[in-house]
Amino acid sequence: MAPVITVGHLRKTYGDTPAVDDVSFTVEAGEIFGILGPNGAGKTTTVECLQGLRHADAGQLDVLGLDPRRQTAQLRRRIGAQLQDSALPERIKVWEALDFFSSVGRGGGDWRRTMAEWGLGEKANASYGSLSGGQQQRLLVALSVVNDPEIVFLDEMTTGLDPAARRVAWDLIKAIRDRGTTVVLVTHFMDEAETLCDRLAVIDRGRVIALDTPRGLVTRHGGEVTLSFTSDLEDLAWMAELEPVGTVARSGRVVTVRGVGPVVALVAAGLVARGEAPADLQVHRATLEDVFLALTGGAP
Ligand SMILES: Nc1ncnc2c1ncn2[C@@H]1O[C@H](COP(=O)(O)OP(=O)(O)O)[C@@H](O)[C@H]1O
Ligand SMILES: [Mg+2]
Repeated sequence: MAPVITVGHLRKTYGDTPAVDDVSFTVEAGEIFGILGPNGAGKTTTVECLQGLRHADAGQLDVLGLDPRRQTAQLRRRIGAQLQDSALPERIKVWEALDFFSSVGRGGGDWRRTMAEWGLGEKANASYGSLSGGQQQRLLVALSVVNDPEIVFLDEMTTGLDPAARRVAWDLIKAIRDRGTTVVLVTHFMDEAETLCDRLAVIDRGRVIALDTPRGLVTRHGGEVTLSFTSDLEDLAWMAELEPVGTVARSGRVVTVRGVGPVVALVAAGLVARGEAPADLQVHRATLEDVFLALTGGAP
């Protein structure tokens, strides 16, 4: 399938500071593509260039077959972006907001259908300010999709939300994708990227430093697996000789094994073959957070 977004060597400088130095990636139709990175990494600048909100200094940009620098108006009709919550007046009614947003951009969106799909029908006449936090989020998401965009850009959508509201937002993001819309999700939360994204680009100081599925990133960059269990075996030399095993340490009856690759399967099979099946075997693998910290060398 042809990608819906292609970015090649994107560069954007403010004065002397490169906000985006060299960013390349492609986004496939129907995926949730994450852009993960610490604050100031250049994430927002990147997606703003993609939406034609800022002009890149250099690089190739193709969004839905259009050049965001020259075909901005055409592009804006086919994409959606989440609004900041401050963008809506407190007193606007739910139906009024949907009606209004369905008439801008491409226009022609069926706002009544969108209102029902996002569970806002009963709140049609409620003012934005009177909605609960979760309902407000649902309305903001509904507004971003009311004109059936092909791609939705969500930039730090869950920043500042409490944990329960974040879960609601995650379900909404999945719901957008389940309706066939491609989602570009900017976030600095590792758990969010790991849970939601099909693939993600890790951006640091204006450059893509890794690009893969969350699982692929952990496998490729996560390094060691550690397992521990209790054992009464006297001889553990066989274990150290297993190819993926790095170190074997014993403390009392507790054995700790470190290595890279299929350590768990081979050690467990060896134990079973020697008549031991430890019920307390624990495995620790790197998380996306460990990978992120290792790659960026710091906290997000
Ligand atoms: N309008 C601007 N003028 C000058 N510098 C900017 C502007 N917008 C962003 N920057 C700088 O560019 C860098 C990248 O910013 P941004 O794309 O917002 O990063 P992120 O979204 O990853 O936090 C930061 O160092 C930021 O201070
Ligand atoms: Mg940002």
